Amino acid sequence: MVLPAFDERLRARLRELCDAGWEFFDHFDRTVRERGFHAFIASEYEAVRDALITHRASGVRFLELGSASGIITIMADLLGYEACGIEIDLALIATAREMARRFDSRARFVCGSFFPAGYSYRTADGEVRTGTLGEGKSGYQELGLALDDFDVVFGFPWGGEEPVLLDLMKRYGNPEALLLMHGVNDGVQAYRGGQRLPKPQMSDGGS
Ligand SMILES: C[S@@+](CC[C@H](N)C(=O)[O-])C[C@H]1O[C@@H](n2cnc3c(N)ncnc32)[C@H](O)[C@@H]1O
Repeated sequence: MVLPAFDERLRARLRELCDAGWEFFDHFDRTVRERGFHAFIASEYEAVRDALITHRASGVRFLELGSASGIITIMADLLGYEACGIEIDLALIATAREMARRFDSRARFVCGSFFPAGYSYRTADGEVRTGTLGEGKSGYQELGLALDDFDVVFGFPWGGEEPVLLDLMKRYGNPEALLLMHGVNDGVQAYRGGQRLPKPQMSDGGS
């Protein structure tokens, strides 16, 4: 598959998508989050967009762990990734599918848990807490793909939950896959095989 040209038209669509994402999140924050706890906090869309531009390549499969309103997964699709998102909140899945229609995106969204069936978290010293990460029926069966089918995996865990995503990738991910993890304070970090990679130079979009 040929990557879409990183031209002014694509840049404008990505800007419009980020704006739509912020508009939705502001509304979500003022309504749903105002009434009680919800695990959805939007990542820095523009920083994630830059990381996706840096790592894009032809035929790359992308998965977002906890895709919320779908902005990052749609962004990945528009940039030429084969993009899927798994999200546990059904209402957010409906929003993501509506966003995908609005942006003429083929991004796929499945409602369920991004934890594979049978996965449980336990560290060597007995820590089992997964923080805000919810439990539910695994989403991979409906997706028709397993975690290790993906080349680039993105997640924005809450502070302290990063070890869970690293453990998940270590046990169920492709060892060659890139994990892009958005930290609470340090932007987007890339990991491969559990090792943090140095920050790459900015790319021109790979077109
Ligand atoms: C911090 S938000 C990040 C949202 C989005 N990825 C972003 O970067 O803007 C985490 C999201 O993961 C979802 N989530 C939590 N546990 C999950 C699980 N086990 N499986 C799928 N989604 C989950 C939450 O509902 C929430 O939408």
